Amino acid sequence: MSELLAVSDLRVTLQTARGPAAALREIAFSMARGDTVGLIGESGCGKSMTALALMGLLPEGARVDGSIRLHGEELTALPESALCRVRGNRIGMVFQEPMTALNPLHTIGRQIGESLRLHKGLSGAAARAQALRLLERVQLPQAAQRLDAYPHQLSGGQRQRVVIAIALACGPDLLVADEPTTALDVTIQREVLDLIRELVREDGMGLLLISHDLGVMADTVARLLVMYGGTVVESGPTAAVFGRLAHPYSRGLFAARPRIGLPRGTRLATIPGRVPELADLPRGCPFADRCALVVDACRAALPEPDEVGPGHAVRCIRWKDA
Ligand SMILES: Nc1ncnc2c1ncn2[C@@H]1O[C@H](COP(=O)(O)OP(=O)(O)O)[C@@H](O)[C@H]1O
Ligand code: SF4
Ligand SMILES: [Mg+2]
Repeated sequence: MSELLAVSDLRVTLQTARGPAAALREIAFSMARGDTVGLIGESGCGKSMTALALMGLLPEGARVDGSIRLHGEELTALPESALCRVRGNRIGMVFQEPMTALNPLHTIGRQIGESLRLHKGLSGAAARAQALRLLERVQLPQAAQRLDAYPHQLSGGQRQRVVIAIALACGPDLLVADEPTTALDVTIQREVLDLIRELVREDGMGLLLISHDLGVMADTVARLLVMYGGTVVESGPTAAVFGRLAHPYSRGLFAARPRIGLPRGTRLATIPGRVPELADLPRGCPFADRCALVVDACRAALPEPDEVGPGHAVRCIRWKDA
């Protein structure tokens, strides 16, 4: 399969009051068309920042080093105007809160049409017809009547379907979905995820899904990247990662997951301690302050990835003891 996305040695440096700080370190992964990859980790680990780096949407003053290639084209070198074309045409984005992605003052038909006019050069009538097809594709009930609805007239789940329609408008090769269902009710979450899975399968798009929900990951992505402290601490085929949980952090994440069917009041195992601030990461292993296996050597340098199995790697110097 041809390469869709190749990220190598991606680093993001933020400007802080105390000077430059390495927020993302040595992130590397690649995707072919049709690949489904999940980015998982606690809040504050750098998942969204990784997605924003891919799309050239980092905060002012952030420096990006390393390489991000989409179909072989180096994105880190592109000027903003060219990046804007890539974002509109080749990468579709869905974020956690649909209202932030939608303009409350414009009808949803107009917002979907805008993308088609801008990036595909469609005229008003053609854009409207295509917007309707897209709304039908994302299974928005009564799509024809809803073309002229405003975002506030829709439910949260319906709004997220509209955001997905906008993301699909130009037929992207890669869909980046950052916690796309976290803000929705549980039953609606499942419907929206089913929709995303179906669309990705039908179109053969690559999917980069960000979630903190292990169950969602197990059902949706073929490969997992476990993120902690601004780096990928374990990566591999989803079944292999869940089967081995080689990194102490992956193990903690798994132990802390909420489970269905536990007696009420059962205490869930949690990982003690807090996620380090990305602007203030320790020098060595970012998990050192929370890890039961920590030794002095862990704090010396960020551990290099070690091979656990085929395509399965872990950044921990003591994973064999875990
Ligand atoms: N402009 C910034 N300056 C300093 N720190 C920032 C900045 N933007 C984000 N961060 C850091 O990034 C963290 C959030 O990272 P993020 O990628 O949003 O995490 P996740 O999506 O995994 O929850 C925050 O806790 C904060 O430490
Ligand atoms: S490198 Fe050390 S501190 Fe980091 S996860 Fe492994 S054992 Fe724990
Ligand atoms: Mg986030």
